[in-house]
This record gives sequence, C-alpha cells and structure tokens, in this order.
Amino acid sequence: MDFNGMTVAVTGAASGIGHATAIAAARRGARIMALDRDADALERLHAQFTADGVTLERVPVDIADEASVRAAVEAIARITPAVDLLVNSAGIVSRGLFETTTTDEWERVLSVNLSGSFYCLKQMVPLLKVGNGRAVVNVASLASKRVSYTGGVAYTAAKAGILGLTRHAAFELAGDGIRVNAVCPGPVLTAMTKNATSEEDRKTVAAMVPLGDWLDPDDVAQAILFLGSPAARMITGTTLDIDGGLSLVTGSSYEAYRRARQ
Ligand SMILES: NC(=O)c1ccc[n+]([C@@H]2O[C@H](COP(=O)([O-])OP(=O)(O)OC[C@H]3O[C@@H](n4cnc5c(N)ncnc54)[C@H](O)[C@@H]3O)[C@@H](O)[C@H]2O)c1
Repeated sequence: MDFNGMTVAVTGAASGIGHATAIAAARRGARIMALDRDADALERLHAQFTADGVTLERVPVDIADEASVRAAVEAIARITPAVDLLVNSAGIVSRGLFETTTTDEWERVLSVNLSGSFYCLKQMVPLLKVGNGRAVVNVASLASKRVSYTGGVAYTAAKAGILGLTRHAAFELAGDGIRVNAVCPGPVLTAMTKNATSEEDRKTVAAMVPLGDWLDPDDVAQAILFLGSPAARMITGTTLDIDGGLSLVTGSSYEAYRRARQ
C-alpha cells in the first residue's frame, strides 16, 4: 500500500487507533492532517513527526460541534485543496448501566461518536471529491453488531449508527467515486480501554479472544489503510471485523460485565 503524494485526514489522531493510523499512513508516504481535541497531544505528535522528517498538520477540533468541524476543514482547505482519505477514529466511551444512563451521557456519547463522524464526513466531502483516493473509513466497533463490554448503551447505539451512516454515505457518494467503509475492532489496548479496565479485566478479555490477546492499535491501522487504499477500489459500504475471532464466540462473562459497573 503506497500512500505517496496522498493526503490523509485522521480524527482522534492524538491517541490509540487514530495515532497508529497516522503513523502507518505517514510511513507509506502520506501527508497527515491530524484532527483532535487534545491540542497538547497534537503538539507532541507534531514534534515527533517533524523529528522523523514527516509532514503533519495539527488541526484542533471538537468533532461534536459542527461549527468547530467546519472551521477545521476550512483550515485544512487553506493547506491543501484535496483530501484523499478521511479516517473517522475520534470517539469516547461511557460506562453507566442502562437504567442509570443520564440524558447528558447519552447525548454526549451520541454527539461525539455518531454526529461527530457525520459532521466530519459531510464537511470533508468537497475536499474528498477532488482527491485521487476518494476514500473514507469510519471506526465502528464490534459493539456495532453486538454489545459493548467496555462502554454502555449509548456507546453501543452510537456505534451501531456508524454502520448505518457508512452504508448510506457509501450509496449516495458512490456517484462521486467516494468509497465509504467501516472497521469493527474488537478489544484494542489504548488509553480508552486501559482507563476503563483493571489488569484482571484485561486478562479475562484476552482469554475470551480466540487468537488469545488484545489487538494492538496498529492491527486496526493496517486494515484501515487497506480499505482506504486503491487495493480496495471496488469495496464500499462494507464493514471489516478486526477482533482476533471474538465475534465467533457465543458466550462471555456476563457477571464480569455487571461487576465492572457496580
Ligand atoms: N480501544 C478499543 O478497544 C476500541 C474498540 C472498538 C472501537 N474503538 C473505537 O476506536 C476509536 C478510537 O478509540 P481509541 O481506543 O483509539 O481511543 P483513544 O481514547 O486512545 O483515542 C481517542 C482520541 O479521540 C479524541 N477525541 C475524543 N473526543 C473528541 C472530540 N470530541 N473531538 C476531537 N477528538 C476527540 C481523543 O482526544 C483521543 O485522542 C473510537 O471511535 C472507539 O470507539 C475502540
């Protein structure tokens, strides 16, 4: 997969899967537009990339706020007329049980994880249309199809929504040659999951994965780059599970799920 001469915009680029995707795309020659709400982390990322001689533009944004996304895309348009690949990776989790999930929590998780991906894709369409790559990869989750282990109902609902967004956008934007796909990662060791689990939880999860371990962020990044590359030129509207076989398993520890929330 060669990304030489391509511009890749990654939301959530400051951490975890987005960070790994930015690094993997840069190693293949891409120029990176790094979008994140964590401005300090973006500064560190910029310093790291500059030291490695790689071009990375810092684009601070709150993807839950459409005006902020519009301003971020305008800033990108001042740097480059075209974006070849958009990776929507920014996201958050919430951990409440169903009956104690507040309206605030529900709306916050939906607005970042679902509306945020919609705003970024919608605002980025004009730049994608004039790019050569014309690809979008949304980071959904195994929770899109099942139930989140780390998050709560709002997270599961938002991630299920990402698959609807992916299908519909793929259908409409096909006329512009823009492909839209989603990845559904299983458990990936990142700040998000480290903060939400104990050492014991992590061992339990690893034991449930048929391939025997948590995923590395780079395992997901490689699949994202495949879907975003010309190698996938006739693939659109689909989802790719990257979960070490976890979706094949029929049973998990319901008790551990409850215990983690009490
Ligand atoms: N880690 C997992 O096990 C896992 C599994 C399936 C799906 N996912 C999904 O992968 C994506 C990345 O998760 P991660 O594990 O790398 O998490 P992470 O916490 O390591 O990184 C998320 C990044 O998104 C940024 N972000 C959060 N809210 C934002 C906002 N409103 N505006 C701009 N940036 C914002 C954060 O600052 C952070 O840099 C998320 O969409 C998550 O739901 C993660």
